[in-house]
Amino acid sequence: MGSATLVESEWIWKDGTFIPWGDARVHLLSLAVQFGSSVFEGIRCYATPRGPAIFRLPEHIRRLYDSCRIYRIDMGHDPSVVREACRRTVRKNGLGSCYVRPMVLRGYGAAGLNPVGSPVETYVAAWPWGTYLGEGTLERGVDVCVSSWNRAHPNTYPVQAKAAGHYVNAQLIKMEAVQNGYAEGIALGPGGLVSEGSGQNLFLVRDGVVLTPFLDGTSLSGITRDAVITIARDLGYGVREQDVPRETLYVADELFFTGTATEVAPIRSVDGIPIGEGKAGPVTLAIQKAFLDLVQGRAEDAHGWLTYVND
Ligand SMILES: Cc1ncc(COP(=O)(O)O)c(C=O)c1O
Repeated sequence: MGSATLVESEWIWKDGTFIPWGDARVHLLSLAVQFGSSVFEGIRCYATPRGPAIFRLPEHIRRLYDSCRIYRIDMGHDPSVVREACRRTVRKNGLGSCYVRPMVLRGYGAAGLNPVGSPVETYVAAWPWGTYLGEGTLERGVDVCVSSWNRAHPNTYPVQAKAAGHYVNAQLIKMEAVQNGYAEGIALGPGGLVSEGSGQNLFLVRDGVVLTPFLDGTSLSGITRDAVITIARDLGYGVREQDVPRETLYVADELFFTGTATEVAPIRSVDGIPIGEGKAGPVTLAIQKAFLDLVQGRAEDAHGWLTYVND
């Protein structure tokens, strides 16, 4: 999703066995390639004093199953098998801090759009992946734009599913932003209100209150978003979901993105307009610190969000 090239690891889990990274191939005419017919997850695993720990693994695997249900994909594995596959993939590759990518795809067989006749294949890959928006951005913040591309209307692409095909829209948002010199794009929904970034949810801070757009059927129900709402409340901040007109971005005291890859990333300008003082704000940095302390095992895991890989 970022511009960096994939760092290969050695093994990929496929339906119960490990295959070498280079052997994880699908046919050109698989439904996943022809029609974007696959669902996936993105999960981070962090190095902690107790060894690698996967952040909110059950919630991610639950969302993978939700995605399958929405797209009528029968994975044929119990969730516990896929959760265990994630832990095993990190271990087998000898990884510490890394990104874990489960994928369920429709393979080769069906000729048309009806997927009956194409097998369902499940994979888990993992690889090392640094800061998504670039080195140093978690500290200094990023410059972003409002995209000329909108998110889709509800009941077109079902955004509660994390499906590969949906990400052609995300790529348009990301490519345009990068082409114009921004780190990310913020997309509006079909009604003209703020929705989310190409691969991250958005938060605003105004007068010490933490605000985020409703989950209105145009943005992904982010697991980091959910964690950050909890963390902000734990820290004593008021948190509110609300409609966010575009201009609310420009007058926010602080803005930040949340996402598995993105983590908690401050935004310092939108469309060239500085946000607050034009740098990472104090509420953002307090939430970011609490998040990173938790996931990296420096603070108590009060909500049971870490799954240790070696336990
Ligand atoms: C479109 C989109 N929105 C939001 C998010 C953030 O979700 P999460 O925090 O579950 O990674 C992601 C990342 O997966 C995404 O792809």
